[in-house]
Amino acid sequence: MPEIERVLFTEEEILHRIRQVAADISADYAGRELKLIGVLKGSVFFLTALARELTVAVTVDFLGVSSFTGASAPGMVRISKDLDESIEGEHVLLVEDIVDTGFTTRYLLQHLTGRAPRSLAVCTLLDRTPRRIVQIPLDYRCFEIPDRFVVGFGLDYRQLYRNLKYVAVLNPEIGG
Ligand code: IMP
Ligand code: MG
Repeated sequence: MPEIERVLFTEEEILHRIRQVAADISADYAGRELKLIGVLKGSVFFLTALARELTVAVTVDFLGVSSFTGASAPGMVRISKDLDESIEGEHVLLVEDIVDTGFTTRYLLQHLTGRAPRSLAVCTLLDRTPRRIVQIPLDYRCFEIPDRFVVGFGLDYRQLYRNLKYVAVLNPEIGG
């Protein structure tokens, strides 16, 4: 694919790492029920792969967000689709595709905290620390990535490439 500059993580590497992180989560929540909350649309691919490897009882819900990353309103986030069910008194794990500046995750953590879950933690597939602006607690992380725009395994460029089985750096001539 000419759009792809280089593959960062192969399908095999991703699934192997997800199994490791799922084992950590399963141990931490042993004997409890865990609600996974995915952020549409990017985290759907990671959430389903993670959920299949968990050995605790799991329920699933989704949030939709719109981010405005323009210079006029950096870090502005809006909920475009709210949860279907209450999370009050539940153990909740927010599942993210990537934490970049941290604005989206911080906003979602505040939103979810207001719903009075029993506990709230964050799990992300990718963590791009060089671009972090707001500090947020990341409880589980699969991979740290360099400061390059990536696609695949749920991550998009203009809604494309989410279905790639791997995570790759996009050719800068195409975008990113
Ligand atoms: P943050 O609010 O800056 O942390 O941005 C988080 C959101 O930006 C993610 O949920 C993605 O939708 C999007 N995003 C950030 N970096 C990338 C990337 O490299 N590829 C695709 N989407 C990205
Ligand atoms: Mg996106």
